[in-house]
Amino acid sequence: MTLDGLTSTPTDNLSIYPHHDSILLSLIIPTYKESGNISSLLNKLTALLDDIMPHKYELIVVDDDSPDFTWKIALALTADYPQLKVIRRTEEKGLSTAVIRGWQVARGEILGVIDADLQHPPETLINLWAEIEKGADLAVASRHVEGGGVSDWSVIRRFLSRGAQTLGLIILPNVIGKVSDPMSGYFLVRRRCLIGCTLSPLGYKILIEVLGRGKIGWIGEVGYVFQERQEGESKVTKTQYIDYIRHLIRLRLSLWQFTRFIRFGIVGFSGVFVDMTVLYLLSDPSTLALPLTRSKIIAAELAILNNFFWNDTWTFKDIAQKQPSKRQKLKRLIKFNIVCLGGLIINVLLLNFFFNIFSLNRYLANFLAIAVVTIWNFWLNLKLSWRSTDI
Ligand code: GDD
Ligand code: MN
Repeated sequence: MTLDGLTSTPTDNLSIYPHHDSILLSLIIPTYKESGNISSLLNKLTALLDDIMPHKYELIVVDDDSPDFTWKIALALTADYPQLKVIRRTEEKGLSTAVIRGWQVARGEILGVIDADLQHPPETLINLWAEIEKGADLAVASRHVEGGGVSDWSVIRRFLSRGAQTLGLIILPNVIGKVSDPMSGYFLVRRRCLIGCTLSPLGYKILIEVLGRGKIGWIGEVGYVFQERQEGESKVTKTQYIDYIRHLIRLRLSLWQFTRFIRFGIVGFSGVFVDMTVLYLLSDPSTLALPLTRSKIIAAELAILNNFFWNDTWTFKDIAQKQPSKRQKLKRLIKFNIVCLGGLIINVLLLNFFFNIFSLNRYLANFLAIAVVTIWNFWLNLKLSWRSTDI
């Protein structure tokens, strides 16, 4: 079901597209059961933004089929506010995907998000906008800088919020540590910082997805006091806390390129099989009994070709597909070979080191040498041969 002509189909990985209009700011208002707040918020926002950027902003309410008909109230208000758009999602639910869905249809150069329940003071937008005008890529309303704070939160809620932040600092220090209030749901970000990034958030914390996957340079922070809710109640349940932990782990693994490393390791194993089989056929006393080093070089080269084929069609497929020409493929093969030959030299040195110095069994020595070289090969090939052109 869509409203205002906007389609809203379930999407997993969400991409943001270039903007094409003279709209400066697209502010997303995610709503779920906010019928008691939405009119007053829209009133305040339009009064404020008409002042600082008349006709250059849009407000996009993204409602998840609220049973209190928030979407209907907002839609009725589009008659008073032509700069207001309303999306009613009926097949998806969730705060952070609602925000990204709104950003996908947004036209502004600057994308933003604010809660619908007046807990994020609209007037803080003025200071956020000032940070953007100073050149910030991201302007975050923070409860933990000068002028920031929360109204009378319970000790438990304060503890949970700070606890969540501490957990984030442990799992994703170089993401969560970028701002003083990574839990904030109130910020503005330059669209160009998100173009080409695949955002796949979970739960409430859209900001950590932006910090983790966006191409964010300068970050500005402004203090605000998180207000008491006027109407309705918070939708935060333990599900959001579980989603937050899942989100942290998923972001951590994907920033480590963990899945890709596992695939690279599996391909490497197939290469080990090729390497060992050819090494046996060429060098074992019971077969051709060729000299060890010469056999190893032939075995390794055949393993490299095997690994290139599988890495290019599986491990790095998403990146290889963006560089499809035969010339680009040949360039990747040459780079892959050079990186792996560097790895081969290390491999042969380590093999001889473990075999001759530590008198390890030749196959165990070879296996250890290959393990060390696999990490070298993964990291260097990721940086060189399949250099990712997007985040
Ligand atoms: N579309 C949509 N779908 N909106 C939702 C959903 C949903 O599933 N769940 C909540 N919202 C909307 C609410 O209507 C409100 O506008 C906003 O998201 C925040 O929801 P609350 O339930 O009021 O969250 P909170 O007040 O406990 O926490 C908020 O403030 C914190 C501090 O900035 C959230 O924004 C947190 O993410 C944030 O950390
Ligand atoms: Mn709230």
